[in-house]
Amino acid sequence: MGRVTTNTADLWHHYGRARAASDRGVPDGFYWAWGQDAGPGAEVLGNLAGRCVGDLGAGAARHAAHLAVQHQPARVTAVDASPAQYAMATDLYGYLAPRLRIVHSDVAPHLHAMRGTYDVLYSVFGAIDFTDPRELLPAAAAALRPGGRLVFATLAHYLSGTPAQPDVVAADVPAKTPDGEEATMRRWVLQEHVWTKLLDEAGFTEITITVLPATAEGARTADTLLVSAHRPS
Ligand SMILES: C[S@@+](CC[C@H](N)C(=O)[O-])C[C@H]1O[C@@H](n2cnc3c(N)ncnc32)[C@H](O)[C@@H]1O
Repeated sequence: MGRVTTNTADLWHHYGRARAASDRGVPDGFYWAWGQDAGPGAEVLGNLAGRCVGDLGAGAARHAAHLAVQHQPARVTAVDASPAQYAMATDLYGYLAPRLRIVHSDVAPHLHAMRGTYDVLYSVFGAIDFTDPRELLPAAAAALRPGGRLVFATLAHYLSGTPAQPDVVAADVPAKTPDGEEATMRRWVLQEHVWTKLLDEAGFTEITITVLPATAEGARTADTLLVSAHRPS
């Protein structure tokens, strides 16, 4: 079967589906690292009590559910563009409303509609990896309140081991349509200095990037870049 690239098929249809069939719990922990098994957790987001928090590309909303249950935010909004992921999140954690709000939307229009609203925005290998950062990062800065913070986990290199891009260049990575047909989607895997420049150009300050080394060896393991930045007060 030929490889197709499509803008309409839900290329996240299969993601997390097997786990959702057997694991419906709210996770006890929050992990940034690619392996989702070690390293820093939700403390990187600061004190979330009474805060408005947004997850950009939340998938099944497991991270957002954890924050809603264990960190007393005013609200966590879990945003995802995939119909399948939105349905999965709603099925698993819809009962956590209103503290958890699950939104079916591309993050760009959502952020544009929410100017100056969020205290904290975060992404765990979510929309920030799969959306042109020259559009997304300025929209995220504008959606934060002055002094608000953006934190995201992204790949430090491709899963093949190929180094990250030294410029703002997306790669086509393999994906599958709901029917199992091969497809591609765009992913931005960028070097640290490229993220720093993009964040600076989007108006962020206090930019820090930490490398979280892979905790296992082998194919499809990866180091993680944990990126943190603030909208100036
Ligand atoms: C690798 S999954 C990660 C999901 C979740 N953060 C997790 O850790 O399980 C990437 C998610 O980002 C979502 N996504 C990608 N681009 C997006 C965009 N522009 N707007 C909203 N969601 C997006 C996809 O639909 C997918 O659910």
